[in-house]
Amino acid sequence: MATAGKVIKCRAAVAWKPNAPLVIEEIEVGPPQEGEIRIKIVASSLCHTELFHLFEGKDNRGFPTILGHEGAGVVESVGPGVADFKPGDKVIPVSAAQCGECRFCKSPKTNLCERSWLNYHVDLMSYPTTRFTCRGQPILQFTGTGTFSEYIVIRQMYVVKIADDAPLDRVCLLGCGVSTGYGAAVNTAGVTPGSVCAVFGLGAVGLGAVMGCKNAGASRIFAVDINEKKFEKAKVFGATDVLNPKAYDKPISEVLAELTNGGVDFSLECVGNTEVSRAALESCVKGWGVSVLVGYTDADFSAKPIQLISGKTWKGTLLGGFKLKDSLPKLVNDYMTGKIMLDEFITHKMDLEQINDAIHLMKTGQCIRCILTISK
Ligand code: APR
Ligand code: ZN
Ligand code: ZN
Repeated sequence: MATAGKVIKCRAAVAWKPNAPLVIEEIEVGPPQEGEIRIKIVASSLCHTELFHLFEGKDNRGFPTILGHEGAGVVESVGPGVADFKPGDKVIPVSAAQCGECRFCKSPKTNLCERSWLNYHVDLMSYPTTRFTCRGQPILQFTGTGTFSEYIVIRQMYVVKIADDAPLDRVCLLGCGVSTGYGAAVNTAGVTPGSVCAVFGLGAVGLGAVMGCKNAGASRIFAVDINEKKFEKAKVFGATDVLNPKAYDKPISEVLAELTNGGVDFSLECVGNTEVSRAALESCVKGWGVSVLVGYTDADFSAKPIQLISGKTWKGTLLGGFKLKDSLPKLVNDYMTGKIMLDEFITHKMDLEQINDAIHLMKTGQCIRCILTISK
């Protein structure tokens, strides 16, 4: 391509500081270095984690930054030492690496990778320097991806090649939220046929979990949310019962215990709230109940030891336990063959310029996922 090896000037939504609207700016994106890939981002959805960083996070060092980590695009150029990708390949950049060489990558038990962004929590992908600059300043790359930019540079161990006929404006959803919820049910919880499940929180993560419970053969799926507008969608994904904890004068765990003869087999917390995590654990049946923490928060939580002593298991999951380089191409295929739903998560479509409207919609609980067209 004509741009290979050169600095590209393009549009991006820059978050200059917390609690402020994003600003559409012209930025410079440097060429990819050793082991790096420059990607033209075609579409990206907005995930709750962006809102967390922008409005709720306690660490204000992560600015100025370019948010976005559920994107999909096309390889523009590759740096030296990149053999598995070529310009024109359709790809999904992700925040969890799969280097293939570390102790964790070699174990089938986990999708953690020693080289993941998640271990460093430095919002730079082309470590130790960013390839983004704007108005003469270096700009961070949130979660190492930064997909609210027309171009990004990212190391190859974070890039997943997908089918040539995959629709990028839909499969971008697989980069985080949907895969997280879906995998939490099918991988981490290990939902079994005929089981009874409860999913707390019905955003894209929770709806992905409902879909996972259904595909794993659960016979009853309780969908729990304080926003009743989410119930209709939950039924589309397979929920058999819907519950609003605010509608009861006793804890939701007691309500579920009464409805299920002592508690559910599997519960999944997809909110990112420690009170809800506790409620989800308490909603499981003693003896064998499994509760999975999916939603992220940096708050501490507590629980009574008897909850675990009585035989329950409390687990957490990151990106649904999927080793993404191995699993995303399969999930894309599952979407193309109708095994999993993606279109149903999309409630809004907007251009990058409307990103602050998309943030408002998510913040006020009016959207499940908004797909932003990043480049045309
Ligand atoms: N009980 C039940 N549901 C709740 C509660 C509560 N106390 N509080 C909020 N919710 C619901 C909201 O009404 C909303 O429907 O949780 C849902 C959260 O959905 P989104 O905001 O759309 O978030 P999502 O993108 O699905 O992510 C969920 O996973 O990746 C993490 O950081 C992310 O913590 C977030 C979580
Ligand atoms: Zn690794
Ligand atoms: Zn996310």
